[in-house]
Amino acid sequence: MASRKRCCGVSVLEATLAVLLVVMTTVCVTLIILMATGKTHTDPEPTRPPGPDPERRPYLIGVGRADCTGPPADIPLMGYANPQQTAAGIHTRLYSRAFIIDDGQQRVVFVTADVGMISQRLRLEVLQALEVKYGGVYRRDNVVLSATHTHCGPAGYFQYTLFMLSSKGYIKSSIQPLVNGIVKSIDVANGSMRPGRVYVSRGQLEDSSLNRSPHSYLNNPQDERRRYKWNTDKQVTVLKFTDLDGDGIGMLSWFAVHAVSMNSTNRMVSSDNLGHASYLMERDKNPRDLPGQGGFVAAFSSSNLGDVSPNINGPRCVNTGRPCDYLNSSCPVGGTKLCVASGPGDDMFESTKIIGHNIYRKAKELYANPEEELIGRLYVAHQWVNMTDVSVKINDTHTVRTCKPALGHSFAAGTTDGGGELNFTQGAVEGDPFWDAIRDAILGEPSNETRACHHPKPILFSTGEMSWPLPWHPEIVDVQLMVVGSVAVVAVPGEMTTMAGRRLRDAVRQELQAGSAFRDLEVVIAGLSNVYTHYITTYEEYQVQRYEGASTIYGPHTLSAYLQTFRHLARAVRQDQVLALPPGPAPPFFKENLFSLMAAAPADRKPANSSFGDVLQQVNPAYRQGDTVSVVFVAGNPRHSGDVRDKTFVTVEIHDNRTDTWEVVYTDASWETRFHWLKGPAQQSNSTVEWHIPPGAPSGSYRIKHYGHAKQMKGFRPVITPYEGVSQVFRVSPSFYYH
Ligand SMILES: *[C@@H]1O[C@H](CO)[C@@H](O)[C@H](O)[C@H]1NC(C)=O
Ligand SMILES: *[C@@H]1O[C@H](CO)[C@@H](O)[C@H](O)[C@H]1NC(C)=O
Ligand SMILES: *[C@@H]1O[C@H](CO)[C@@H](O)[C@H](O)[C@H]1NC(C)=O
Ligand SMILES: *[C@@H]1O[C@H](CO)[C@@H](O)[C@H](O)[C@H]1NC(C)=O
Ligand SMILES: *[C@@H]1O[C@H](CO)[C@@H](O)[C@H](O)[C@H]1NC(C)=O
Ligand SMILES: *[C@@H]1O[C@H](CO)[C@@H](O)[C@H](O)[C@H]1NC(C)=O
Ligand SMILES: *[C@@H]1O[C@H](CO)[C@@H](O)[C@H](O)[C@H]1NC(C)=O
Ligand SMILES: *[C@@H]1O[C@H](CO)[C@@H](O)[C@H](O)[C@H]1NC(C)=O
Ligand SMILES: *[C@@H]1O[C@H](CO)[C@@H](O)[C@H](O)[C@H]1NC(C)=O
Repeated sequence: MASRKRCCGVSVLEATLAVLLVVMTTVCVTLIILMATGKTHTDPEPTRPPGPDPERRPYLIGVGRADCTGPPADIPLMGYANPQQTAAGIHTRLYSRAFIIDDGQQRVVFVTADVGMISQRLRLEVLQALEVKYGGVYRRDNVVLSATHTHCGPAGYFQYTLFMLSSKGYIKSSIQPLVNGIVKSIDVANGSMRPGRVYVSRGQLEDSSLNRSPHSYLNNPQDERRRYKWNTDKQVTVLKFTDLDGDGIGMLSWFAVHAVSMNSTNRMVSSDNLGHASYLMERDKNPRDLPGQGGFVAAFSSSNLGDVSPNINGPRCVNTGRPCDYLNSSCPVGGTKLCVASGPGDDMFESTKIIGHNIYRKAKELYANPEEELIGRLYVAHQWVNMTDVSVKINDTHTVRTCKPALGHSFAAGTTDGGGELNFTQGAVEGDPFWDAIRDAILGEPSNETRACHHPKPILFSTGEMSWPLPWHPEIVDVQLMVVGSVAVVAVPGEMTTMAGRRLRDAVRQELQAGSAFRDLEVVIAGLSNVYTHYITTYEEYQVQRYEGASTIYGPHTLSAYLQTFRHLARAVRQDQVLALPPGPAPPFFKENLFSLMAAAPADRKPANSSFGDVLQQVNPAYRQGDTVSVVFVAGNPRHSGDVRDKTFVTVEIHDNRTDTWEVVYTDASWETRFHWLKGPAQQSNSTVEWHIPPGAPSGSYRIKHYGHAKQMKGFRPVITPYEGVSQVFRVSPSFYYH
């Protein structure tokens, strides 16, 4: 593939890209995340008013939440890179949650959003918007953007070609709600700032995560493994934010697990297990508010989850029920595709609920028992680093280097949380002549230099050598560190495996504790932060070349390079020299050659003699608690609803007999509702709304409403009009009620 060419018209470009898309999507891109840990140290710290001790001066703190849900239709969901998995409704909404701390001198912002990963493009657009709004208050160095790694959010917010191909391009209507939602969560936090206190506590959650590449983990040195009881990190770390009266205003936590309880067959936008944990905690603390509303903000952030699955029943061959091959996660009949991990629930909804509930329960317990107040100065350090060009002196005689980005064969195998479509298997250290030949013919052969640099990875895509129509992978990455009292947050631009994360935490702790100002530090890893660069394994795990190693794009010494660059930041913090850190090479902000393969949504049609919002399939007259109500409406394409933030496609309403009014009790953000959008033939579509009646639902008369927009042609002019539909009224009675 030649470098940038602009001779050809858009249609030629699109046609070429469409061909590439077919190749790429069949070859499949699978993407993933991370969370954190620490140490114990008990010093119960009752909230007290600010005393004369200057160290006890409160911080200024603010918390904020904003809807960042994008168009819930047609756009591929970001994560499994399954081209069939396009958005078709809403399971739960996506939110950005922001936390601001200010010590009078320095301000830090931590944001975690219900999104697959923060892309470089998303971060750059957010920083530009913050600059316009706030001047220099919120900047590259003091704003950390992290993602929960849900695999069920709309894609399309990337500027590098590989990700654009798996997203159907750079999709303006998809990135805009993310940028606006993230900025709004910071606005809300900025507007809520007041004196307050922050506490840390930590505990173990043992039943909610499983290592999905134990074979890679076992390749780490035995004496290193012996220091740890588990092959994944089980620690939950919680920061509690209170005002000066001791009233809680927010909670920020980290736990290392992939947000992939919802599997690749789900097509509804969903915040997955970590989003469900937020939902439960916020419902506790904002009992009178609908989901997504109320002042208390509870965030569950990702960490070193690279090899950590929530599907704790483990992988099995779905055709036989027998265990998969341990080394390559394939099945004797059916290969990689049929080796699927699941559990702990009977289906993905129940699994999401159980894992989310476990994490919530542990965090709530820790929140109620804060161990230690965070006090003292805040520090931030940030640099841009050319990750293709880092050399690390590993001993007196040897210097090793990072490589131009490339993905290995096992990348296309996917994982037991979501397999590739083709016959790739994990653990491949030899290429497959069949696929290599196709690759060479279409994309070009990897250079010998890149092959040697990535050894023993057999290269499938030499993305660092592909720059048409834009580079396929980033070269410049963000490394960032913030320190709040005894907690250091390391913002990692990808998915570190368990052991990689442990090594990084140790390195940062060691470097900071070499100074007397930092004792008993808790170092947490904030995963999927700032720019997405796939995985980061240890050198030893890399040798095995399972999915995570094949997706370690800067080569076998990627982790060594991060250890060095993060140590460098930590040293600058310890020596109070962060202002002297050069910013490093700024990442590009591409203005040309971004492409979109998403056509505008066509006009909607409806059955003869019907209107949008008409009920096609009615509710029953009566239900019991625990039943599921379902109603089908004539619908328009949800993409015609434009910016859907802070709106709802669904309400469940209860009748108030005293006032003869209807009160909204659930929306499409509620766990209990499911909004499925079903595209039929001839541009017709239906919305199916389900309400899973919870056991505690009050008896009474209810109805379900659906809101949407339909596009119709008035002559040659498209006209978009809102519509709404309403079900018949139905009764809900207790499940113990018998006739
Ligand atoms: C941010 O908060 C400060 C007060 O802390 C206020 O002066 C400013 O107007 C706020 N900015 C925005 C954009 O809301
Ligand atoms: C996976 O490994 C087993 C041996 O452990 C081997 O028999 C099998 O052929 C491998 N499967 C694939 C698809 O490479
Ligand atoms: C996804 O989960 C559903 C149950 O909710 C199950 O039927 C299906 O087989 C799973 N698919 C995959 C690929 O894990
Ligand atoms: C990164 O480093 C490589 C190797 O030195 C160089 O070719 C490339 O231009 C650099 N990239 C940027 C964006 O500076
Ligand atoms: C330095 O590291 C290399 C690569 O691991 C190793 O081969 C070599 O023996 C080491 N040299 C010394 C002096 O430790
Ligand atoms: C994958 O499929 C192709 C085409 O069917 C075949 O030539 C190739 O040998 C297969 N590779 C493996 C590892 O089975
Ligand atoms: C790589 O090296 C081999 C042997 O040295 C040579 O035949 C081949 O052409 C080289 N390939 C490329 C892409 O440079
Ligand atoms: C539409 O409704 C009218 C009046 O009720 C009726 O005469 C006509 O047959 C209906 N058309 C269809 C296609 O159902
Ligand atoms: C819409 O729902 C009706 C009634 O359930 C069904 O007959 C029809 O096939 C559905 N149409 C589409 C486009 O899904």
